[in-house]
Amino acid sequence: MAPRKLAAGNWKMNGDLAALAEIDALVADYPAPGCEVLICPPALLIHPAKARAGDAIAIGGQDCHADASGAHTGDIAAAQLRDAGATHVILGHSERRADHGETDATVAAKAAAAHAAGLVAIICVGETEAQRDAGETLAVIAAQLDGSIPDGATAANTVIAYEPVWAIGTGRTPTTDQIAEVHALMRERLEGKVADAAGVRLLYGGSVKPANAAEIFAIPHVDGALVGGASLKAADFGPIIAALAEA
Ligand code: PGA
Repeated sequence: MAPRKLAAGNWKMNGDLAALAEIDALVADYPAPGCEVLICPPALLIHPAKARAGDAIAIGGQDCHADASGAHTGDIAAAQLRDAGATHVILGHSERRADHGETDATVAAKAAAAHAAGLVAIICVGETEAQRDAGETLAVIAAQLDGSIPDGATAANTVIAYEPVWAIGTGRTPTTDQIAEVHALMRERLEGKVADAAGVRLLYGGSVKPANAAEIFAIPHVDGALVGGASLKAADFGPIIAALAEA
């Protein structure tokens, strides 16, 4: 069976309590969205977001610590995300890898912690522009997948997001052929590493917007999107959800 499609919004360090009105708008406009919808707001907003999201929209975190609890000032454990109402957590986003020095091993440890807490881990991979220009894209993605996916990963507890670093927040996107090439590689690479590899959702992320969503969702092995800027407003995220439901 084809994987259930997933439209995931990553609010990053944007939004406040007033911004939860965007979730209300999505719930009102898409009571039965036709695909899975997830919003990952800043951690402080997870609990109130869940109270507003109802059953139509899932809520997730943007990071968690690899340990279950302990002396880690400022960090959040996977079980705490879960307790607040999250069902998913984004891990290894390129902004975390760049700003916080997260390595593939860090990401794998965090994903294992997420799984242990009953969260779905959305593991992000992606090449820099210099790596693409050097012809290293497929090797980089393969190595990140190999290093970032923990033992015990399954189609039920793991989603992979391909996010070229140079496409994030820039308005630039790869060609459909470039996305197709990476997604085909990812599907192949998951065989033997993840139980039910064919069922793992593979998201594309990086400057997805209403105008390019349908074209991206038509690409083989693209099972949804991880959306940053265009997830902040229901007026933008809504049409992306609708395009995915129709794909
Ligand atoms: P963007 O961000 O949609 O604003 O490019 C995507 C992401 O970083 O997840």
